[in-house]
Amino acid sequence: MRIVLCNSPEEAVSFTVNRIARLVARKPEAVLGLATGGTMEPVYTGLVAAHREGLSFAKATSFNLDEYVGLTPNHPQSYRYYMEQHLFGQVDMDPSRIFVPRGDLDPLEAAEAYESEIRSRGPMDLQLLGLGHNGHIGFNEPGSSLASRTRDKALTMSTREANARYFGPDETQPISALTMGIATIMDAKEILILAVGAAKAAAVRAVAEGPVTTMCPGSALQFHQNVTMVVDEDAGAGLVLKSYYREAETMHVDRD
Ligand code: PGA
Repeated sequence: MRIVLCNSPEEAVSFTVNRIARLVARKPEAVLGLATGGTMEPVYTGLVAAHREGLSFAKATSFNLDEYVGLTPNHPQSYRYYMEQHLFGQVDMDPSRIFVPRGDLDPLEAAEAYESEIRSRGPMDLQLLGLGHNGHIGFNEPGSSLASRTRDKALTMSTREANARYFGPDETQPISALTMGIATIMDAKEILILAVGAAKAAAVRAVAEGPVTTMCPGSALQFHQNVTMVVDEDAGAGLVLKSYYREAETMHVDRD
């Protein structure tokens, strides 16, 4: 796993934006796996800025990681809506090549349809991931099978608490989500995982340096051959091999 230690959250975001923008510039028909959450908001701001400076997403395809079960695509707390606000509505993506799991349909059928769409259009050239405090990637909570595919996954109390801030007092917060599985994520050609802030430090350490275990779903990434984890100083604070990663990074050569 390549670990990129950045001096600030802004630097980590800018590394992430540049990686995605470079891929789309080099391969306009790229298939992108996209993520949501607070960490990704400035990433999409950066991609929208790149678009305004000439980067076109017109030929790209995108698949989002997850969606709340029970929410329609136009529900303000749905991830489809989030994506429309932060990216899709502000760049030139072709709506016929935008895919987000459907939380408002029968979960079993929607999950199968999503996997089959990924099979026919994938694999992802680049899968973008955030990281939960509990080590989840997508909504693959601790205990998730490392061989899992897109399915309806019950959310843990800690994930529901972390996301409660987005829901008003009168809104019902979903208790499960359709999420790509770990095996779906592992099919991507390249994975880019971004984590910032001290609250992510334990999860970052567990993903990069802990044992591979369902208790930390992100640790499965240790079995992928092309993963880059980008962290700011606070999120990377618990890493044991920090000075090694810094040194290795000075020798890194981009091959694309
Ligand atoms: P966050 O979510 O970016 O809002 O912290 C990340 C995640 O839970 O995957």
